[in-house]
Amino acid sequence: MKELVRKLTEAWGPSGYEHHIRQIIREEVAELADEITVDPLGNLICRVGDGEKRVMVAAHMDEIGVMATYREKKSGYMRFANIGGLSPQTLRGNRVKFENGVIGVIGVEGGKGDSLDQFFIDTDDASGEQTVPEGSPAGFWRPMDERGKRLVGKAMDDRIGCVVAIETMRKLKKKKTPNSVYFAFTVQEEVGLRGARTAAHNINPDVAVALDVTRTGDEIHGAKMSVKLGGGAAIKVHDPGLVVPPAVVDWMVNRAEADGIPYQRELLSGGTTDAAAIQLTNAGVPSGCISIPCRFIHTVSETVDLDDVQACIDLLSGLVSNPVSL
Ligand code: CO
Ligand code: ZN
Repeated sequence: MKELVRKLTEAWGPSGYEHHIRQIIREEVAELADEITVDPLGNLICRVGDGEKRVMVAAHMDEIGVMATYREKKSGYMRFANIGGLSPQTLRGNRVKFENGVIGVIGVEGGKGDSLDQFFIDTDDASGEQTVPEGSPAGFWRPMDERGKRLVGKAMDDRIGCVVAIETMRKLKKKKTPNSVYFAFTVQEEVGLRGARTAAHNINPDVAVALDVTRTGDEIHGAKMSVKLGGGAAIKVHDPGLVVPPAVVDWMVNRAEADGIPYQRELLSGGTTDAAAIQLTNAGVPSGCISIPCRFIHTVSETVDLDDVQACIDLLSGLVSNPVSL
């Protein structure tokens, strides 16, 4: 599994430019799904099983990034816009990778750095030629590292959710499912939950589960939040975009208890997931979320624990391989 995490987190795919990561996932799931489609927005949708209950599982493929917007006079310095939520304090000295492979370094005008317009990307390669045209998107760049059970990398948000979905599909291959499970690898989550909305409209699920990272309260002066790294699968109860129906929380908690899977209840005070968009599609969809605890979200050093990831896989595969009575 570790190598799959490496492969997916190191792949390139800012929001709206998911074609590379989609191809990698498509090859990964080719033997695991009964039917694979790509919808007009670019969501990769994989059906497993053909039972009556329609269960949607969503994990987003896209990652936050930047777009080069303007070349400063005769220089390799490119001004840029954000793709998704960028925090200025994570930028200085950071590296981005453009689709053509050019690595850029983010600099800031003399000592400042509280707003995006003070930053630029150095794309100069000493040739005097422009290495990336205006309008080029880039993702942040860093290889994955491991520290014992902890994996550190860019884009754990939400490639680790994609890993949970893929590994669950692998388990279903042996276990089978009495449901129709639609694994949706969605686009454009970081710019407003866009892919999940159209994917859910097409799938028309009876119930949906989003897979995404959540914050932890175990950093120094961290959020007032009891989720911790290594504490098990986080079962969402509430975030600013979603009040999880109690029946959905119970469905997950009862499964975790029956199967002896470590879990914790998640109450997130900032941010939301694809489930917030899915719940409002068609006539409404009861939706919940299995979250992977993650430190340093939206930096190049997002940190997860392998035991938590396994707990999320076990919980999701337990849920979808049993009859669903929601
Ligand atoms: Co995110
Ligand atoms: Zn996410």
